Amino acid sequence: MSKTILLTGGAGYIGSHTYVELKSAGYDVVIIDNFSNARPDVIDRLAQITDAPVTWHKGDVLDKAFLAKVFAQHAVDAVIHFAAKKAVGESVEKPLDYFETNCTGFSNILMAMQAAGVFNVVFSSTATVYGEPLSLPYTEDHRIAPVSPYAQSKVTCETLLRQLKDSDPRWNYGVLRYFNPAGAHDSALIGEDPNDIPNNLMPYIAKVATGELPHLNVFGDDYDTPDGTGVRDYIHVVDLARGHVQSVGKLLDDQDTHILNLGTGTGYSVFDMLRSYEKACGTTLPFKIGPRRAGDIDCFYADPASARDYLGFEATRGLDEMCQSSWNWVSRVRNS
Ligand SMILES: NC(=O)c1ccc[n+]([C@@H]2O[C@H](COP(=O)([O-])OP(=O)(O)OC[C@H]3O[C@@H](n4cnc5c(N)ncnc54)[C@H](O)[C@@H]3O)[C@@H](O)[C@H]2O)c1
Repeated sequence: MSKTILLTGGAGYIGSHTYVELKSAGYDVVIIDNFSNARPDVIDRLAQITDAPVTWHKGDVLDKAFLAKVFAQHAVDAVIHFAAKKAVGESVEKPLDYFETNCTGFSNILMAMQAAGVFNVVFSSTATVYGEPLSLPYTEDHRIAPVSPYAQSKVTCETLLRQLKDSDPRWNYGVLRYFNPAGAHDSALIGEDPNDIPNNLMPYIAKVATGELPHLNVFGDDYDTPDGTGVRDYIHVVDLARGHVQSVGKLLDDQDTHILNLGTGTGYSVFDMLRSYEKACGTTLPFKIGPRRAGDIDCFYADPASARDYLGFEATRGLDEMCQSSWNWVSRVRNS
Protein backbone atom coordinates (compact mmCIF):
# COMPACT_ATOMS: atom_id res chain seq x y z
CA MET A 1 0.00 0.00 0.00
CA SER A 2 1.33 3.41 -0.84
CA LYS A 3 2.49 5.68 1.97
CA THR A 4 0.85 9.02 2.72
CA ILE A 5 2.95 12.16 3.05
CA LEU A 6 1.58 15.38 4.57
CA LEU A 7 3.13 18.47 2.95
CA THR A 8 2.83 21.64 4.99
CA GLY A 9 3.27 24.67 2.75
CA GLY A 10 2.67 22.32 -0.17
CA ALA A 11 1.16 25.08 -2.34
CA GLY A 12 4.37 27.14 -2.19
CA TYR A 13 7.34 27.21 -4.51
CA ILE A 14 9.38 24.21 -3.29
CA GLY A 15 6.33 22.41 -1.83
CA SER A 16 4.43 22.37 -5.13
CA HIS A 17 7.39 20.92 -7.03
CA THR A 18 7.88 18.34 -4.28
CA TYR A 19 4.20 17.39 -4.56
CA VAL A 20 4.71 16.52 -8.23
CA GLU A 21 7.83 14.44 -7.57
CA LEU A 22 6.18 12.58 -4.65
CA LYS A 23 3.15 11.73 -6.79
CA SER A 24 5.34 10.45 -9.59
CA ALA A 25 7.21 8.30 -7.04
CA GLY A 26 3.87 6.70 -6.10
CA TYR A 27 3.10 8.41 -2.77
CA ASP A 28 -0.31 9.63 -1.66
CA VAL A 29 0.05 13.26 -0.69
CA VAL A 30 -2.01 15.64 1.44
CA ILE A 31 -1.29 19.38 1.23
CA ILE A 32 -1.98 21.90 3.95
CA ASP A 33 -1.35 25.59 3.31
CA ASN A 34 -2.79 28.90 4.45
CA PHE A 35 -2.08 30.41 0.99
CA SER A 36 -0.37 33.43 2.55
CA ASN A 37 2.36 33.08 -0.07
CA ALA A 38 0.86 30.83 -2.73
CA ARG A 39 -1.17 31.34 -5.87
CA PRO A 40 -4.79 30.23 -5.39
CA ASP A 41 -4.77 28.34 -8.71
CA VAL A 42 -1.75 26.19 -7.82
CA ILE A 43 -3.99 23.30 -6.76
CA ASP A 44 -5.64 23.16 -10.21
CA ARG A 45 -2.24 23.31 -11.83
CA LEU A 46 -0.96 20.42 -9.69
CA ALA A 47 -4.01 18.41 -10.73
CA GLN A 48 -3.24 19.23 -14.35
CA ILE A 49 0.43 18.19 -14.11
CA THR A 50 -0.28 14.96 -12.25
CA ASP A 51 -3.56 14.23 -14.04
CA ALA A 52 -5.23 13.40 -10.71
CA PRO A 53 -7.27 15.24 -8.09
CA VAL A 54 -5.29 16.90 -5.30
CA THR A 55 -6.06 16.31 -1.62
CA TRP A 56 -5.62 19.59 0.22
CA HIS A 57 -6.83 21.60 3.20
CA LYS A 58 -6.63 25.34 3.65
CA GLY A 59 -5.43 26.15 7.16
CA ASP A 60 -2.67 27.45 9.34
CA VAL A 61 0.07 25.56 11.15
CA LEU A 62 -0.59 27.89 14.09
CA ASP A 63 -4.11 26.44 14.37
CA LYS A 64 -3.78 23.33 16.55
CA ALA A 65 -7.43 22.30 16.15
CA PHE A 66 -7.05 22.40 12.37
CA LEU A 67 -3.93 20.23 12.54
CA ALA A 68 -5.62 17.68 14.81
CA LYS A 69 -8.50 17.45 12.35
CA VAL A 70 -6.18 16.85 9.40
CA PHE A 71 -4.29 14.09 11.25
CA ALA A 72 -7.61 12.50 12.29
CA GLN A 73 -8.79 12.49 8.68
CA HIS A 74 -5.68 11.02 7.02
CA ALA A 75 -3.43 8.09 7.94
CA VAL A 76 -0.20 10.05 7.57
CA ASP A 77 3.11 8.14 7.45
CA ALA A 78 5.46 11.12 7.27
CA VAL A 79 5.44 14.90 7.14
CA ILE A 80 7.53 17.20 4.97
CA HIS A 81 7.44 20.62 6.60
CA PHE A 82 7.81 23.60 4.26
CA ALA A 83 5.35 26.09 5.80
CA ALA A 84 7.40 29.04 6.99
CA LYS A 85 8.30 32.64 6.39
CA LYS A 86 11.54 32.91 4.44
CA ALA A 87 12.69 36.50 3.86
CA VAL A 88 15.93 37.18 5.73
CA GLY A 89 15.52 41.00 5.61
CA GLU A 90 11.92 40.90 6.81
CA SER A 91 12.92 38.62 9.68
CA VAL A 92 15.20 41.36 11.01
CA GLU A 93 12.22 43.74 11.10
CA LYS A 94 9.73 41.19 12.43
CA PRO A 95 11.57 38.66 14.60
CA LEU A 96 8.42 37.78 16.59
CA ASP A 97 6.48 36.89 13.42
CA TYR A 98 9.33 34.69 12.29
CA PHE A 99 9.58 32.97 15.65
CA GLU A 100 5.84 32.38 15.76
CA THR A 101 5.37 31.00 12.24
CA ASN A 102 8.65 29.13 11.93
CA CYS A 103 9.24 27.84 15.46
CA THR A 104 5.77 27.69 17.06
CA GLY A 105 4.30 26.50 13.76
CA PHE A 106 6.81 23.66 13.63
CA SER A 107 6.36 22.67 17.26
CA ASN A 108 2.58 22.57 16.63
CA ILE A 109 3.19 20.18 13.74
CA LEU A 110 5.46 17.99 15.87
CA MET A 111 2.85 17.91 18.68
CA ALA A 112 0.10 16.96 16.23
CA MET A 113 2.34 14.24 14.81
CA GLN A 114 3.15 12.86 18.25
CA ALA A 115 -0.54 12.80 19.19
CA ALA A 116 -1.29 10.91 15.97
CA GLY A 117 1.64 8.49 16.40
CA VAL A 118 3.55 9.82 13.35
CA PHE A 119 7.30 10.03 13.92
CA ASN A 120 8.88 10.69 10.50
CA VAL A 121 9.55 14.28 9.46
CA VAL A 122 11.62 16.03 6.81
CA PHE A 123 12.45 19.62 7.71
CA SER A 124 13.26 22.49 5.29
CA SER A 125 16.36 24.10 6.66
CA THR A 126 18.77 26.48 5.02
CA ALA A 127 22.45 26.95 4.34
CA THR A 128 22.20 30.30 6.13
CA VAL A 129 22.46 28.35 9.40
CA TYR A 130 26.23 28.22 8.71
CA GLY A 131 26.73 31.99 8.65
CA GLU A 132 30.10 33.37 7.54
CA PRO A 133 32.15 30.52 6.07
CA LEU A 134 35.16 29.36 8.07
CA SER A 135 36.01 27.16 5.09
CA LEU A 136 34.41 26.34 1.76
CA PRO A 137 32.64 24.34 0.52
CA TYR A 138 30.24 24.11 3.47
CA THR A 139 30.15 20.63 4.92
CA GLU A 140 27.39 19.61 7.31
CA ASP A 141 29.80 19.77 10.26
CA HIS A 142 30.69 23.42 9.56
CA ARG A 143 30.05 25.43 12.69
CA ILE A 144 26.53 26.87 13.03
CA ALA A 145 26.35 30.67 13.39
CA PRO A 146 23.04 32.15 12.22
CA VAL A 147 23.16 35.90 11.61
CA SER A 148 19.44 36.64 11.07
CA PRO A 149 16.25 35.83 13.00
CA TYR A 150 15.23 33.72 9.98
CA ALA A 151 18.38 31.57 10.14
CA GLN A 152 18.07 31.42 13.94
CA SER A 153 14.49 30.12 13.61
CA LYS A 154 15.78 27.24 11.48
CA VAL A 155 18.55 26.45 13.98
CA THR A 156 15.93 26.42 16.76
CA CYS A 157 13.83 23.92 14.82
CA GLU A 158 16.87 21.73 14.07
CA THR A 159 17.73 21.77 17.80
CA LEU A 160 14.17 20.85 18.75
CA LEU A 161 14.34 17.84 16.42
CA ARG A 162 17.57 16.66 18.03
CA GLN A 163 16.09 17.06 21.51
CA LEU A 164 12.94 15.25 20.49
CA LYS A 165 14.88 12.28 19.15
CA ASP A 166 16.99 12.21 22.32
CA SER A 167 13.76 12.07 24.32
CA ASP A 168 12.07 9.41 22.19
CA PRO A 169 13.97 7.22 19.71
CA ARG A 170 10.83 6.60 17.66
CA TRP A 171 11.45 9.96 15.97
CA ASN A 172 13.23 9.88 12.60
CA TYR A 173 14.09 13.10 10.86
CA GLY A 174 15.77 14.48 7.78
CA VAL A 175 17.09 18.01 8.01
CA LEU A 176 17.76 19.35 4.51
CA ARG A 177 19.86 22.51 4.30
CA TYR A 178 19.05 24.08 0.95
CA PHE A 179 21.35 26.35 -0.96
CA ASN A 180 19.62 28.62 -3.54
CA PRO A 181 16.60 27.00 -5.25
CA ALA A 182 15.95 28.34 -8.75
CA GLY A 183 14.01 27.48 -11.92
CA ALA A 184 10.58 26.00 -12.47
CA HIS A 185 8.79 22.83 -13.52
CA ASP A 186 9.17 21.75 -17.18
CA SER A 187 5.41 22.15 -17.68
CA ALA A 188 5.73 25.90 -16.92
CA LEU A 189 2.56 25.50 -14.82
CA ILE A 190 4.23 26.04 -11.45
CA GLY A 191 7.18 28.18 -10.38
CA GLU A 192 8.24 31.01 -8.13
CA ASP A 193 6.04 34.08 -8.33
CA PRO A 194 6.79 36.63 -5.61
CA ASN A 195 4.24 39.46 -5.28
CA ASP A 196 6.76 41.97 -3.94
CA ILE A 197 10.23 42.97 -5.06
CA PRO A 198 12.02 39.61 -5.00
CA ASN A 199 14.73 38.93 -2.44
CA ASN A 200 16.47 36.31 -4.56
CA LEU A 201 18.51 36.84 -7.71
CA MET A 202 16.67 34.69 -10.23
CA PRO A 203 13.13 36.00 -9.60
CA TYR A 204 14.61 39.50 -9.66
CA ILE A 205 16.24 38.91 -13.06
CA ALA A 206 12.97 37.34 -14.23
CA LYS A 207 11.12 40.55 -13.39
CA VAL A 208 13.71 42.56 -15.34
CA ALA A 209 13.18 40.19 -18.28
CA THR A 210 9.40 40.67 -18.17
CA GLY A 211 9.80 44.46 -17.88
CA GLU A 212 8.31 44.64 -14.36
CA LEU A 213 11.60 45.97 -12.98
CA PRO A 214 13.83 48.40 -14.90
CA HIS A 215 17.24 46.82 -14.27
CA LEU A 216 19.19 44.42 -12.10
CA ASN A 217 21.21 45.96 -9.29
CA VAL A 218 24.55 44.19 -9.02
CA PHE A 219 25.84 44.75 -5.51
CA GLY A 220 29.59 44.85 -5.96
CA ASP A 221 31.83 43.78 -8.85
CA ASP A 222 35.08 43.76 -6.90
CA TYR A 223 34.72 40.48 -5.04
CA ASP A 224 37.49 37.92 -5.16
CA THR A 225 35.74 35.85 -7.83
CA PRO A 226 36.50 35.27 -11.55
CA ASP A 227 34.25 38.15 -12.76
CA GLY A 228 34.13 40.16 -9.51
CA THR A 229 30.47 39.42 -8.68
CA GLY A 230 29.25 37.21 -5.84
CA VAL A 231 29.18 33.46 -6.41
CA ARG A 232 26.38 31.26 -5.04
CA ASP A 233 25.29 27.62 -5.29
CA TYR A 234 21.99 27.48 -7.23
CA ILE A 235 20.04 24.24 -7.35
CA HIS A 236 17.17 23.53 -9.75
CA VAL A 237 13.93 23.30 -7.77
CA VAL A 238 13.04 19.98 -9.43
CA ASP A 239 16.38 18.50 -8.29
CA LEU A 240 15.65 19.88 -4.81
CA ALA A 241 12.20 18.30 -4.86
CA ARG A 242 13.72 14.93 -5.82
CA GLY A 243 16.02 15.27 -2.81
CA HIS A 244 12.94 15.38 -0.56
CA VAL A 245 11.54 12.22 -2.11
CA GLN A 246 14.85 10.46 -1.43
CA SER A 247 15.02 11.83 2.12
CA VAL A 248 11.51 10.81 3.11
CA GLY A 249 11.99 7.41 1.44
CA LYS A 250 15.09 6.84 3.55
CA LEU A 251 13.19 7.76 6.75
CA LEU A 252 10.37 5.38 5.92
CA ASP A 253 12.54 2.49 4.71
CA ASP A 254 15.38 2.64 7.23
CA GLN A 255 13.97 4.54 10.26
CA ASP A 256 16.81 6.87 9.53
CA THR A 257 17.94 10.31 10.72
CA HIS A 258 20.14 12.60 8.62
CA ILE A 259 21.25 16.22 8.24
CA LEU A 260 22.30 16.99 4.67
CA ASN A 261 23.17 19.86 2.37
CA LEU A 262 21.14 20.01 -0.82
CA GLY A 263 23.20 21.98 -3.31
CA THR A 264 25.17 21.28 -6.46
CA GLY A 265 28.66 22.14 -5.23
CA THR A 266 29.02 24.46 -8.24
CA GLY A 267 29.08 28.20 -7.78
CA TYR A 268 27.66 30.62 -10.35
CA SER A 269 28.25 34.36 -10.31
CA VAL A 270 25.65 37.10 -10.72
CA PHE A 271 26.94 37.70 -14.24
CA ASP A 272 26.84 33.95 -15.05
CA MET A 273 23.15 33.98 -14.20
CA LEU A 274 22.46 37.20 -16.04
CA ARG A 275 24.10 35.89 -19.24
CA SER A 276 22.31 32.57 -18.99
CA TYR A 277 18.97 34.33 -18.48
CA GLU A 278 19.65 36.58 -21.48
CA LYS A 279 20.19 33.43 -23.55
CA ALA A 280 16.88 32.02 -22.28
CA CYS A 281 14.80 35.11 -23.00
CA GLY A 282 16.67 36.11 -26.15
CA THR A 283 17.44 39.70 -25.20
CA THR A 284 20.07 41.66 -23.29
CA LEU A 285 19.02 42.69 -19.80
CA PRO A 286 19.96 46.03 -18.22
CA PHE A 287 21.98 46.09 -15.02
CA LYS A 288 23.65 48.68 -12.80
CA ILE A 289 26.71 48.08 -10.67
CA GLY A 290 26.33 49.41 -7.13
CA PRO A 291 28.30 49.17 -3.90
CA ARG A 292 28.60 45.93 -1.96
CA ARG A 293 25.80 45.15 0.52
CA ALA A 294 26.72 44.83 4.18
CA GLY A 295 27.15 41.20 5.15
CA ASP A 296 27.52 39.80 1.60
CA ILE A 297 30.42 37.44 1.01
CA ASP A 298 32.45 36.42 -2.10
CA CYS A 299 31.39 32.81 -2.40
CA PHE A 300 28.88 30.46 -0.83
CA TYR A 301 28.56 26.86 -2.00
CA ALA A 302 27.84 23.38 -0.70
CA ASP A 303 29.80 20.23 -0.38
CA PRO A 304 27.12 17.91 -1.80
CA ALA A 305 29.08 14.69 -1.09
CA SER A 306 27.10 13.55 1.97
CA ALA A 307 23.73 13.78 0.17
CA ARG A 308 25.25 11.82 -2.72
CA ASP A 309 26.82 9.12 -0.52
CA TYR A 310 23.91 8.87 1.88
CA LEU A 311 20.82 9.31 -0.29
CA GLY A 312 22.28 8.79 -3.76
CA PHE A 313 21.17 12.36 -4.45
CA GLU A 314 22.76 14.24 -7.31
CA ALA A 315 21.57 17.43 -8.96
CA THR A 316 21.33 16.84 -12.70
CA ARG A 317 20.22 20.25 -14.02
CA GLY A 318 22.56 23.17 -14.63
CA LEU A 319 22.22 26.93 -14.78
CA ASP A 320 20.88 27.08 -18.35
CA GLU A 321 18.03 24.72 -17.44
CA MET A 322 17.25 26.80 -14.36
CA CYS A 323 17.09 30.01 -16.41
CA GLN A 324 15.20 28.52 -19.36
CA SER A 325 12.56 26.89 -17.14
CA SER A 326 12.18 30.11 -15.13
CA TRP A 327 11.71 32.12 -18.32
CA ASN A 328 9.19 29.61 -19.69
CA TRP A 329 7.22 29.95 -16.45
CA VAL A 330 7.30 33.73 -16.04
CA SER A 331 6.55 34.42 -19.70
CA ARG A 332 3.60 32.06 -19.51
CA VAL A 333 2.28 33.76 -16.32
CA ARG A 334 2.68 37.17 -17.96
CA ASN A 335 0.76 36.05 -21.03
CA SER A 336 -2.03 34.20 -19.20
N1 LIG B 1 13.27 29.47 -1.42
C1 LIG B 1 14.43 29.54 -0.79
O1 LIG B 1 15.34 30.25 -1.21
C2 LIG B 1 14.69 28.70 0.45
C3 LIG B 1 16.00 28.44 0.83
C4 LIG B 1 16.22 27.68 1.99
C5 LIG B 1 15.14 27.19 2.72
N2 LIG B 1 13.88 27.46 2.32
C6 LIG B 1 12.76 26.95 3.13
O2 LIG B 1 11.96 26.12 2.31
C7 LIG B 1 10.61 26.19 2.72
C8 LIG B 1 9.72 26.48 1.53
O3 LIG B 1 10.19 27.66 0.89
P1 LIG B 1 9.54 28.20 -0.45
O4 LIG B 1 10.60 28.93 -1.18
O5 LIG B 1 8.76 27.14 -1.12
O6 LIG B 1 8.56 29.30 0.19
P2 LIG B 1 7.03 29.63 -0.16
O7 LIG B 1 6.70 30.87 0.57
O8 LIG B 1 6.82 29.59 -1.63
O9 LIG B 1 6.27 28.38 0.49
C9 LIG B 1 5.86 28.35 1.83
C10 LIG B 1 4.39 27.97 1.85
O10 LIG B 1 3.97 27.91 3.20
C11 LIG B 1 2.71 28.57 3.31
N3 LIG B 1 2.62 29.08 4.67
C12 LIG B 1 3.33 30.10 5.22
N4 LIG B 1 2.96 30.28 6.49
C13 LIG B 1 2.03 29.33 6.77
C14 LIG B 1 1.27 29.00 7.92
N5 LIG B 1 1.39 29.69 9.07
N6 LIG B 1 0.41 27.96 7.85
C15 LIG B 1 0.25 27.25 6.69
N7 LIG B 1 0.93 27.55 5.56
C16 LIG B 1 1.81 28.56 5.60
C17 LIG B 1 2.74 29.67 2.25
O11 LIG B 1 1.43 30.05 1.82
C18 LIG B 1 3.51 28.99 1.12
O12 LIG B 1 2.65 28.31 0.23
C19 LIG B 1 10.54 27.27 3.81
O13 LIG B 1 10.55 26.63 5.05
C20 LIG B 1 11.83 28.04 3.60
O14 LIG B 1 12.30 28.61 4.78
C21 LIG B 1 13.62 28.19 1.18
